[in-house]
Amino acid sequence: MIKTIKTTAYGDQKMGTGGLRKKTKVMMQPNYFENFIQSVFNTIGDLKGKVFVVGGDGRFFNAEAIQRFIKMAAANGVKKLIIGQNGFMSTPAGSNVMLKNHTDGGFIFSASHNPGGENGDFGVKYANHTGGQVPTSVSDKIYANSKTITEYKIMDCPNIDLSKLGTQHLGDMEIEVIDPVKDYVEMMESIFDFDALKKLFKSGFTMRFDAMNAVTGPYAIRIFEDILGASKGSVIRAVPLPDFGGLHPDPNLTYAKDLVDFMFSDKATDFAGANDGDGDRNMILGKHFFVTPSDSLAILTDNYHLIPAYKNGIYGVAKSAATSTAVCRVAAKNNLPYYVVPTGWKYFVNLMDSKRITLCGEESFGSGSSHIREKDGIWAILFWLSIIAATGKTVEQITRENWKKYGRSYYMRFDFEGLDTTVADKLMSDLEAKLPTLAGKKFGDYEVKQAAPFVYNDPVDNSTTKNGLVIDFTNDAKITYRLSGTGSTGATLRVYLERLEYNDLDQDTFSMLQELLKIAMQVAEITERTGKTKADVNT
Ligand code: G1P
Ligand code: ZN
Repeated sequence: MIKTIKTTAYGDQKMGTGGLRKKTKVMMQPNYFENFIQSVFNTIGDLKGKVFVVGGDGRFFNAEAIQRFIKMAAANGVKKLIIGQNGFMSTPAGSNVMLKNHTDGGFIFSASHNPGGENGDFGVKYANHTGGQVPTSVSDKIYANSKTITEYKIMDCPNIDLSKLGTQHLGDMEIEVIDPVKDYVEMMESIFDFDALKKLFKSGFTMRFDAMNAVTGPYAIRIFEDILGASKGSVIRAVPLPDFGGLHPDPNLTYAKDLVDFMFSDKATDFAGANDGDGDRNMILGKHFFVTPSDSLAILTDNYHLIPAYKNGIYGVAKSAATSTAVCRVAAKNNLPYYVVPTGWKYFVNLMDSKRITLCGEESFGSGSSHIREKDGIWAILFWLSIIAATGKTVEQITRENWKKYGRSYYMRFDFEGLDTTVADKLMSDLEAKLPTLAGKKFGDYEVKQAAPFVYNDPVDNSTTKNGLVIDFTNDAKITYRLSGTGSTGATLRVYLERLEYNDLDQDTFSMLQELLKIAMQVAEITERTGKTKADVNT
């Protein structure tokens, strides 16, 4: 039976960089989740004939949210849902299922790399027919709808059994429960040379993959251990837990410190990688060596010809503005078009759909290609393993050779977390107002070349986005400031630093950036305004 429930609008359902992200307890408030889903449905309009993919990263409230979603979809006239078994589906696997089945989009219930559990975060990533998350023009409409919503529709019926593979019905709606790993594995096999990777592991190559108690464990065990032959136990923290075992499932130097320490110990394997909560982020480590995500993107681009799916050529590459310029130098030398977009994967979607780019990435541990419309953690690791298999070189050798060839962008990001939003907003607006006065100013050895907000004009839909403030120095150094759009409480100020060197290639990154960090803090008056003398996350 379809029920129409009266509801009161919440005023805060605005999507950020990657969907709607809130404290789990906020999402669990009466009708909160339902209001948002109904707002999406209202924005889409006629749902007859529409097919969506549904899944999540298994975090607390995932199972309940999916049941409510199914009942709302059936009540709103959706034709079919394709759902991952037991409600699990990584973000990249979901995008693949959307594209493979030519669906109208999908819903991945995840707050990505944010902690989970009752006291953690929950989120909804909503993608449209492109298989990628919707552009701001659409999320603005959803937000507007959510502010005036008065009712939603839901079926009054028992929960659906999502453990059984195959087709079932709820009213007129078809529900197909699929193995979320199977299609993903097939896609990876169609991109990479799995035989070459099997040979690599047969030769004694060792790796460790940290699934961080999140969604990619089962994908990683199937691919790395069962198919490619990495030794049993190579995949650690492989069982997805509702609270990720208390971990912050963000694969970076701060939150994946265990793995980093292991790789810098004498027990280190030849290679290590980690993924985030929903499997779209990746971290790459070699023996006693860390690869920055910006360098990783540059290296993947420089080696595309080694991968069967890309060996006949790629359209071009793109990076977010905050990502280092390493990939731009590789692109320029190899006559590849490159694009610089605002932070957030959704900005790559138009470029991929219009065949302007094949590869893209962000400094925030994301890289991917046009095989789907999301970043892809396991894909990035398979790409690296393929380069190693084809060249016989170590992660460190591959990276150092890249620096020799193209110069090294010393690069780091500093996050100041938990700031008062008013303080953070004021810091940014005052800094923006100050930018025009900075050109020509000297700070020690650094002289400002230009300072301006980053503005992006999308070549496909002509939309304009302003995101972040950038100070360029005459010596190829750069500071970028942004406020995070994925947090669930307070504000996070991100400060991105880059300094390009062509000769001095073997220095410690932090030491190379120390002076620039001081300048960044001084110009934005970070300590004076926030009371913080140092960042909470350095990565
Ligand atoms: C962060 C990253 C951004 C990434 C997004 C989703 O967004 O900085 O690159 O696309 O998460 O994974 P932010 O919190 O900075 O808005
Ligand atoms: Zn993620």
